[in-house]
Amino acid sequence: MKSAAAQARLIQLRAEITRHDELYYRAAQPEINDREYDRLKAELAELEAKFPEFAVAASPTDRVGDDRLTGFATYRHRLPLQSLDNTYTEEELRAFHTRLVKQLNREDFAYVVEPKIDGLAVSVTYEQGKLVRAVTRGNGEEGDDVTENVRTIRTLPQELQATEGQVLPDVIEIRGEIFLTTAEFQRINQEREEEGEALYANPRNLAAGTVKLLDSKEVARRKLEIVLYGVGFCEPAVAESQSQFHALVRQRGQPTLERFWTAQGIDEAWAAVRRLDELRHAFRYGTDGAVVKLDNFRWQREAGRTAKAPRWAIAYKFEPERAETRINAITVQVGRTGVLTPVAELEPVALSGSTVSRATLHNRDEIERKDIRVGDYVLVEKAGEIIPAVIEVVLPRRAPQCVPYQFPTACPVCGTAVMQIEGEVAMRCPNANCPTQVRRRLTHFASKAALDIDGLGTAMVDELVARGWVRELSDVFRLRRDDLLTLGKNVEKSADNLLAAIAASKTCDLWRLIHGLGIPHVGVAASKDLASHFRRIESLSEAKFEQFIANKQTLISGIGEVMARSITGFFNEPRNRALILDLIRAGVRPVAPAERATGSTRFAGKTFVLTGTMPTLTRDEASALIEAAGGKVSGSVSKKTSYVLAGSEAGSKLDKARELGVPVIDEAEFRRMQAGD
Ligand code: IVH
Repeated sequence: MKSAAAQARLIQLRAEITRHDELYYRAAQPEINDREYDRLKAELAELEAKFPEFAVAASPTDRVGDDRLTGFATYRHRLPLQSLDNTYTEEELRAFHTRLVKQLNREDFAYVVEPKIDGLAVSVTYEQGKLVRAVTRGNGEEGDDVTENVRTIRTLPQELQATEGQVLPDVIEIRGEIFLTTAEFQRINQEREEEGEALYANPRNLAAGTVKLLDSKEVARRKLEIVLYGVGFCEPAVAESQSQFHALVRQRGQPTLERFWTAQGIDEAWAAVRRLDELRHAFRYGTDGAVVKLDNFRWQREAGRTAKAPRWAIAYKFEPERAETRINAITVQVGRTGVLTPVAELEPVALSGSTVSRATLHNRDEIERKDIRVGDYVLVEKAGEIIPAVIEVVLPRRAPQCVPYQFPTACPVCGTAVMQIEGEVAMRCPNANCPTQVRRRLTHFASKAALDIDGLGTAMVDELVARGWVRELSDVFRLRRDDLLTLGKNVEKSADNLLAAIAASKTCDLWRLIHGLGIPHVGVAASKDLASHFRRIESLSEAKFEQFIANKQTLISGIGEVMARSITGFFNEPRNRALILDLIRAGVRPVAPAERATGSTRFAGKTFVLTGTMPTLTRDEASALIEAAGGKVSGSVSKKTSYVLAGSEAGSKLDKARELGVPVIDEAEFRRMQAGD
């Protein structure tokens, strides 16, 4: 490759990988699977090695991604929480062993082979046997303090019990993976489907999204689970090897891996990996690979680590299951924002325990790149993703009469000419009044996670759109009782209930309205962040890109470049700005998070610690109020803490406050103090 071309590709790859990092870690909405992601990374690493002259200070190859969001206190890990390097072939796995042999100058070591669980890493710290903190990986150095949410995991002990003949360490940091079982994942997705909400692509994204919910009560409704697979900082040490650690965890009845193997040398390790591949389908959770770890801790330390991953452990990713089947048709679906998604209608085929009859084809480019045609035989794959994808065409089986697929030039619903948005691969129907778009927008707008309008489910939405009463979100607030009464017999009560629910939603929390607008990539957590920051929908709608990102730096924590572009792009469209005005004209008056006492110094010099779930304030909102009045918010209780602001299900912080005699207040008391009463 010529140097100019290499430089261009490097720039493109870095931008692309950074975007995927953000989608995966922050938005929990990946667009590509792990393998495709690893391929991009491998290409980048190769080009960077070949063209060192184009090196940059912070390349995506050096880091582990970042899952931190606003709304959580950040916490610095005592020891970095790293990622693992991936391998895909036996040869690559053996190369890992050869490197270790060379480095340690010996061959007689044992490995532990564990399932690789598809969830998210967390570090849980116990002090004097009590659970004090749980932190996500974050960027590897610092993560989000998700203690309150992790406390909702029933199987995780709040307190460690010393077993016979053992002392509890003063401090032990245990690492593990938080996940959702396949069954729980399906239950939640089914519930969402019934409520007309977007489905989660896979359990990993759902688990990650759940741990990052700001409302612990909501977290408790989804049954998160955890397994423990490693020790970080530990004083004094409790185990000398990974196998000893596992034995200890099991002895104490703590949540542990379904199976693991100890293996002498790489041949036995490889055999264990194969065995795991046979057994994993019966596990309660998704397992996309094996983790091979050097057993002995002393040798682990000797092997050390790179900037990104330990040298003493490696992941081996299993070949995802595939099946061959025929494409009977390609249909094109229209989404909420008009994006056209081609879907392969397949001859039903059994794959990873279910029957697959449809698979996403992502977009037009994807079809062209893989030259997918109606009538083709293709390989479909599930790859940890619940929604299957078409991997490739089985060319030898292509019938001569198969012709290249022509992506529609007109919207299949409303017939408007489709167009490609600059800088995006997606094709869109630009007609915002396209009935399918209106229906999807409206269903989302009224859903539980947005304005939460009871009685405005999919069936009612279809009806309202079909009759032409609702073309735009704001039309909801202009529905007429007389019209609704024509929908059937004896519908007075339901019509009145619906109108009452609509009227009540006019004064919804601001974040609900923001989320309800359906700005691509902006979920509930981001909507709350935006509501706290902008406080008025008008301010958000007028915000310039520079108010989100300056010098490549995020100015509003939790809102990265992908979201910033999406938000400003959304409000750049005149019809979306007009929509905001029209909503206000229709009487919508969203309520900002608890008003700030601007300029007040009421809490100057005071430090607050927040714990538990408060009746109306989120943590974010309470923190904003405290900080606006000159106070500080801290993550842990000490003698210096002025107040502990406690809600329901408050945990150890409350005990600590009582122990130290720190005043504990509730939300009502806090509001009185804030108002100066
Ligand atoms: S050990 C310092 N063991 O996979 C290395 N990780 O792709 C710590 N994972 O970040 C990781 N199962 O979130 C380890 N049995 C297992 C695992 C496991 C899943 C996750 C973990 C890690 C990621 C790397």
